[in-house]
Amino acid sequence: MATFGGRREVAGFDEHLVKSRQRVADHGEVFTPRWLVDDMLDLVKSETERIDSRFLEPACGSGNFLVPVLERKLTAVQSRHGRSEFEKRHYALFALMCVYGIELLPDNVAECRANLTALFARFLGPSAGHEWNRAASAVVAVNVVQGDALKMTDARGDAILFPEWGYLGRGRYQRRDFRLDDLTQRASASVGLFEAFEEHEIFTPVKTYSRMTVQEVGG
Ligand SMILES: C[S@@+](CC[C@H](N)C(=O)[O-])C[C@H]1O[C@@H](n2cnc3c(N)ncnc32)[C@H](O)[C@@H]1O
Repeated sequence: MATFGGRREVAGFDEHLVKSRQRVADHGEVFTPRWLVDDMLDLVKSETERIDSRFLEPACGSGNFLVPVLERKLTAVQSRHGRSEFEKRHYALFALMCVYGIELLPDNVAECRANLTALFARFLGPSAGHEWNRAASAVVAVNVVQGDALKMTDARGDAILFPEWGYLGRGRYQRRDFRLDDLTQRASASVGLFEAFEEHEIFTPVKTYSRMTVQEVGG
C-alpha cells in the first residue's frame, strides 16, 4: 500500500474502492464504483426518482449508494418544486429524511453523513440559512447509524431505531421512531399471518413526536 498526501492506494485496486488490505480482510470493505451504482439504481429508477421513497443501505460505507440516491431525489425536487424556494428547501430536506444507512466503522459513518449533508447544502446554495444545515446534520445523525446491521444493534449494543419522517406541508414535519428488528421481523412474516391487519396495527412506533418546523428538526 502506498500513501499519497493522505490518500491511500492499494496495488491492483482503484484508490477510491479500497482503503486498506486490512479493512478488506476485516470488514469486507470494498466500495462500489460509481458506474455500477448507477447501473444498479437504474434497475429501480422510478423509486430513486420519487422524493418520498425510502432507501436503507445496511452496509453503507461512505455513501456510494446513498449519495447518488439523494442526487436523484434532489433532481426530482428541483423539477417539481424548483419554482418555490420554500417548497424546494422543505422537500429537499424531506428527500434527505428518506435516506437511511447502517455502517460498522465510525470513520465511514462520519464520511457518509458528511457526504450527504454536503450534497444537500450544495443543492440549497449559500442563501439558505444555517437552520437548514443544522436540520440536515440532525437528520443524518439519526438516519445514518453506526452499528451492526446483522445484529441490528447500534454501537452501544442497543436496538437500532430509525425515524420515519413525513412532510405534512406548510413547513411541518412529523417523526415516528421504529425498531429496525421489529420492522424487519414483521415485514418478513408471511403475508397470510398479517393480511387481516391494517398497517398501523402491525408497526408500532416506540416514540411519536409532535409536528416540527425545520428549526425544531435541527434542535
Ligand atoms: C463491501 S463494503 C460496501 C460499502 C458501500 N455499500 C459501497 O457499496 O460502496 C461493506 C461495508 O459494510 C461495512 N460492514 C461490514 N460488516 C458490517 C455489519 N455487520 N454491519 C454494518 N456494516 C458492516 C464495512 O465497514 C464496509 O464499509
